[in-house]
Amino acid sequence: MYNDNPTLNLQNKTIDPNKQGEVFFKEQKEGQENKKKFYIESYGCSMNFSDSEIVASILGDVGFTATRNIEESDLILINTCSIREKAEETVRKRLRVFDKTKKQKPDMLVGVLGCMAERLKKKFLEEEKLVDLVVGPDAYRDLPNLVASAETGEKGINVLLSREETYADISPVRLGSNGVTAFISIMRGCDNMCSFCVVPFTRGRERSRDAFSVVAEATNLYNEGYKEVTLLGQNVDSYKWENPETGEVVSFAQLLVMVAAVHPDLRVRFSTSHPKDITDDVLFAIRDYENICKYIHLPIQSGNSRILDLMNRTYDREWYINKVKRIYEIVPDCAISSDIITGFCSETEEEHQETLSMIELARYSMSYMFFYSERPGTLAARKLEDDIPLEVKKKRLSEVIRIQAQVSYQHNQQDIGNTFKVLIEGDSKRSDKEFKGRNSQNKMIVFPKKSGIKAGDYVFVKVNDATSVTLKGEII
Ligand code: SAH
Ligand code: SF4
Ligand code: F3S
Repeated sequence: MYNDNPTLNLQNKTIDPNKQGEVFFKEQKEGQENKKKFYIESYGCSMNFSDSEIVASILGDVGFTATRNIEESDLILINTCSIREKAEETVRKRLRVFDKTKKQKPDMLVGVLGCMAERLKKKFLEEEKLVDLVVGPDAYRDLPNLVASAETGEKGINVLLSREETYADISPVRLGSNGVTAFISIMRGCDNMCSFCVVPFTRGRERSRDAFSVVAEATNLYNEGYKEVTLLGQNVDSYKWENPETGEVVSFAQLLVMVAAVHPDLRVRFSTSHPKDITDDVLFAIRDYENICKYIHLPIQSGNSRILDLMNRTYDREWYINKVKRIYEIVPDCAISSDIITGFCSETEEEHQETLSMIELARYSMSYMFFYSERPGTLAARKLEDDIPLEVKKKRLSEVIRIQAQVSYQHNQQDIGNTFKVLIEGDSKRSDKEFKGRNSQNKMIVFPKKSGIKAGDYVFVKVNDATSVTLKGEII
């Protein structure tokens, strides 16, 4: 679900990597021609894309409408990611482009949102002269005030992190939506402190959103015609919400079941699961509810126990292998995917080989793969030496990608001859004579259209061909 390095992804993600920085828009309604317009680009994980929809809602309430056209916008917003150095470079490049537009239109405001805003804070205003606003992930309610003061020439900054903010009461404006699938944020922040990761610093403490507001959002989406929701959090399995009125605690497994109960035709997905926290109850929910998708994103990061310890992941290789076995035992047709980092501090060649063997052992349907990028302020940056040469990190990454491609190919070949229930998401990338959709296991399937069938419908598709990234088939 990460978006700074599209070339490394082997299978289409929930967010298509090719839509990186996708421009979101909301149709302008008649009579709104004179309203102020904002333009927003999003980078990074699905949570950032979901946050942009909250921002659109907050700005909509004070009279802004969205536009796809930078030239006609009064406010340019870029929702940023800090996860790897490359993600930050991409944002800086975009700011150079906005600089040109601003030269032609000096009144236009430029705002930086999200994780880079939180990481760099005031430094951003010093480093990037064209930036008028710097707003961290927990401060979006303050955007209207910050925009108003920036309009008077005063630079606006709010990077306060909160222990409570979940934006539970805000109805996101579904931007650039296909009308079939949508994200629902169920929690914010992360308390895990993996040594390589910047997220705890940019997103703050973990907090869970009111379970009833999650169910209400899912219900509204279903009533509007949506057929799939993805529940989002950095670590969804540690979701825990205490009802202030009854004191009752809702776990992630219970929330999953509550959302699945909205309607049997509303598919439920979730991301991301931390191997240490996923419980049997979650697996039982996946097994027992047809509309909870049989797909778990279970990032391993490394297949070697010493490296996992240095990463502070709190599980080791054996523990992870047992978790994978448990998943296949309870949900035999479950697909599992992963995130992998190569060349973490002091990783030896033998340790890297253990990551390669893990891909085969766990039979990942796909993985997001990265080479280690040291992030300032993280535990690893402070305590460990980033001592693996870049060429070695990249060589190991290419090996990981090669093995994963083989495993994905085998995984997909095994689907040939099988029939899957597919939710149609729209036209395939290549042709308007074909539809694309996903099966429960999150595999993209492309198949010829049939009259009377449209995006948002469920169809049964028999697979007759497969590459390492896509299945091909026919409606039966
Ligand atoms: N919360 C999720 C992951 C969020 S970050 C989880 O715990 O799995 C998404 C992915 O980016 C991580 O899983 C990791 O594989 C990768 N990543 C994070 N920090 C990184 C870094 N410093 N260098 C390279 N990859 C990193
Ligand atoms: Fe980062 Fe670890 Fe939290 Fe995931 S669980 S966001 S990798 S600190
Ligand atoms: Fe990036 Fe922030 Fe998400 S660092 S991956 S946008 S939580």
